[in-house]
Amino acid sequence: MQPKIGVTIGGFEFETCIFNASGPKDETLPLLERIAKSKASAITMKSCTLEPRVGNPEPRYVDLPGKSSINSMGLPNLGYKEYIKFAKTLKKKYKKPVIASICGMSLQDNVTMFQAFNNSAADIIEFNPGSPNTIGKPIVGYDIGEMDRSLAKLTKICKKPLGVKLPPYFDFVHFEGMAKVLQKYPVEYVSCINAIGNALVIDPKKEQPVIKPKGGFGGLGGRFIKYTALANVRKFYELVGNRIKIVGVGGIFTGVDVFEFILAGATAVQLGTVYMQEGPKCFARIQMELVSYMKKRGYDSLEDFRGKLKTLD
Ligand SMILES: Cc1cc2nc3c(=O)[nH]c(=O)nc-3n(C[C@H](O)[C@H](O)[C@H](O)COP(=O)(O)O)c2cc1C
Repeated sequence: MQPKIGVTIGGFEFETCIFNASGPKDETLPLLERIAKSKASAITMKSCTLEPRVGNPEPRYVDLPGKSSINSMGLPNLGYKEYIKFAKTLKKKYKKPVIASICGMSLQDNVTMFQAFNNSAADIIEFNPGSPNTIGKPIVGYDIGEMDRSLAKLTKICKKPLGVKLPPYFDFVHFEGMAKVLQKYPVEYVSCINAIGNALVIDPKKEQPVIKPKGGFGGLGGRFIKYTALANVRKFYELVGNRIKIVGVGGIFTGVDVFEFILAGATAVQLGTVYMQEGPKCFARIQMELVSYMKKRGYDSLEDFRGKLKTLD
């Protein structure tokens, strides 16, 4: 018997626990259809803003040695109205959950987009609090008060299952503060983690940063961030896992990586840098690797080991 790796999120059946993360190669309908035709179990769309954005000047994404990446894309996207249309097309043509990702430049922008997506074909809405609501303030994900205000307003509007894409946290006080806020609202899942922000990669021969925007500062993805992602998944699983599902993202390249994320408490995982680097075949490969590792360990389903990280004693 094949191990079962399907999951349910927001009442929607996902054929496997593996799908794409918002951002990498999902800005246009042809790119989204590439994901739809792959073994990804859902289609997550690019984080959208009210108005279309061209994003930052190139080079703005660079593969790093060791299966990692740095980017400062600047949210290039076609504007939310296009993603509402894409969701309709994708739902008509493919039988997969469609996840819209919303990243407004202000709470008012987010309100407008949440209202619009309520009447769309998208199944799930993922809120990306990756922009500051006010210039000079941290991103919303790093501002507990602003997160509270945003979720208070957005959860009142949102009629679809809501996911929240969290930035990485590094201090237990921050984990606990964010967990307290999340617990106040009907959040279906949190996705941990977004890129580790504002890293600097230098080319020593050119004596320059490797990306152009922001003096070379950009978000790290891939292998370099896997252990931070696992820690965030584990911590939120401990703090809110009784009510809110955890979706793991960060540095996943193999089926054994997925196994580790599920062991830490993830319900499902999203793939970013590996999809950027390997393309759509990564979903089938990682799915097969997960199944074969589960067989090796004697597990029939994800429930057999989800969250059951053992202690050293
Ligand atoms: C090119 C690129 C663009 C991204 N754009 C978004 C985005 O629009 N919205 C979002 O929530 N995350 C975005 N991310 C972050 C990824 O979804 C993911 O959280 C991060 O890269 C960590 O996963 P990984 O190690 O598998 O890459 C982007 C990442 C990359 C590499």
